[in-house]
Amino acid sequence: MRLRYHPYSPLILFGLAAARSLADSTASTLDGADTTHTHRKGGPDAAKARAVKDAYLISWNGYYDHAFPDDTLQPVTNGSVNDRSSWGVTAVDSLSAAIIFQDAESVNQILEFIPTIDFTTTRRSEFFSLFETNIRYVGGLLSAYDLLSLPQYRNLPENKTHVETLLKQAVSLGNALKFAFDTPSGVPDPSIQLNPAPRRSGALTNNIAEAGTLVLEWTRLSDLTGDPSYAALAQKAESYILHPAPPSAEPFPGLVGTHLRIADGRFTDTSGGWSGLTDSFYEYLIKMYLYDPDQFAFYKERWMAAADSTMRYLVSHPSTRQDITFLSLYRGTTTIPVSTHLASFAGGNFILGGLLLNETKYVDFGLRLAESYYQTYRGTATGIGPEAFRWFDNAKPPSGDNTPPPTAEDAASYASAGFWATARQYILRPETVESLYHAYRATGDAKYQDMAWRAFRDVARAARVGGAYAGLADVTGADGGRFLDRMESFWITETLKYLYLLFTEDSEIQVQAGRPNMWVYGTEAQPYRIRSNR
Ligand SMILES: *[C@@H]1O[C@H](CO)[C@@H](O)[C@H](O)[C@H]1NC(C)=O
Ligand SMILES: *[C@@H]1O[C@H](CO)[C@@H](O)[C@H](O)[C@H]1NC(C)=O
Ligand SMILES: *[C@@H]1O[C@H](CO)[C@@H](O)[C@H](O)[C@H]1NC(C)=O
Repeated sequence: MRLRYHPYSPLILFGLAAARSLADSTASTLDGADTTHTHRKGGPDAAKARAVKDAYLISWNGYYDHAFPDDTLQPVTNGSVNDRSSWGVTAVDSLSAAIIFQDAESVNQILEFIPTIDFTTTRRSEFFSLFETNIRYVGGLLSAYDLLSLPQYRNLPENKTHVETLLKQAVSLGNALKFAFDTPSGVPDPSIQLNPAPRRSGALTNNIAEAGTLVLEWTRLSDLTGDPSYAALAQKAESYILHPAPPSAEPFPGLVGTHLRIADGRFTDTSGGWSGLTDSFYEYLIKMYLYDPDQFAFYKERWMAAADSTMRYLVSHPSTRQDITFLSLYRGTTTIPVSTHLASFAGGNFILGGLLLNETKYVDFGLRLAESYYQTYRGTATGIGPEAFRWFDNAKPPSGDNTPPPTAEDAASYASAGFWATARQYILRPETVESLYHAYRATGDAKYQDMAWRAFRDVARAARVGGAYAGLADVTGADGGRFLDRMESFWITETLKYLYLLFTEDSEIQVQAGRPNMWVYGTEAQPYRIRSNR
């Protein structure tokens, strides 16, 4: 799950203004990295896998007891909210996790629920996000359908009819969503409603993350059903981003703008990066190549162009911590030293690309990113990275954005940690452990398991409340500030799933180094079987 905040929103750039002390921040070297080059072989760890599974069981049971079948648990108050069309997003999104955790009870609870969902309408008259609906609902249904065909999971469902129903419900939902693409260009409207009748929002633009993170799920839906219409719609929308129309909004080769006009698919700006509103477009380029290297060879070319430009132009080292590598945003060819928790997925995506292309330079760069973004965890009092942060890069010309200078506390943080937080919340996001997962799979080095374990322990301690786990308002304060009363569905299906995969046994659904990958993970950490493997 990516994209939540606009990279230039005041929230990201300036953050919240609470005072706190980071005097106890001790981050001065990358944990285990750079100081020594020893490689300690990692491996499955049953006790740690069990601890992650326990956190999953607390989370699922908290949701099931207090919120099901509503969308989202409010763990502080044991309440619930319907913020994703009232189709029970936490249940549908969590099914693939329940399967991978081999939790038969919740698998069957969810499988019995799914046939009762009416995806052709919503309870309330409301607009909802095509992108979020795709990655959480379409993705959740298709991933569970694929996973349940594996021998190790085949016996989890008590009623096999429910497995076929997963695909039927994905078709029902896909058919209900199709009209979103019925625009002059075929770039979908980002926001639609079904109740009282199907209607597009009429938005003038979409962004490359929301328009460019449909193609994997919709291609999979076509392959599983034999109906090519879903793939055709998503690939048509994608074509405008793959082939920017002249005058090209491509400030660096392969790195494009953020917003597309729905009228004609042309870019309206030249800003971007690997953060909100753009991120998973780049992520899916290399994942489509994994899905089918023949049909999606051009997607790989575009990913390589973007990756090479990123390594050349967006790489940035904080003036106080030259050992750290962050990725800047850009406005035209001006780079801006700002990044986000969302952007910490990039390390894992570079590592995956390097593994698939046999390119050490991408793997090595991805490892540096994974370790560096993990340093945002080490640089706060809670041990958890903030939503957004800044730094100075003296090697680059000033970005010209009118950022206020850091406060005294921010400056103290910057001196030792190499960043200061400009948005201090943590909403149970996965991206940092997602990249540590890829780093561990690529190298087998135990240090990445150690980093992920430390992140897990710190999150599990600070975020545990009442019925489950909640977001935190201020990771820079020792107690994490107040709780944010929501447990997003990606906590179970992404954060806890990647953590579990770091410590459980090897299997074919894991990301592979040195042998072919059989599965590809969507941006919501929903694994799908790749095409050439069927
Ligand atoms: C399995 O589920 C289907 C529909 O979801 C239902 O019609 C059928 O009775 C169920 N079978 C059993 C053995 O419960
Ligand atoms: C990468 O190397 C493996 C064998 O080591 C080979 O099977 C594969 O085709 C190579 N992939 C590319 C993209 O060169
Ligand atoms: C919420 O439920 C949990 C058990 O699931 C309980 O421990 C906690 O006290 C409850 N919180 C409130 C505010 O009722």
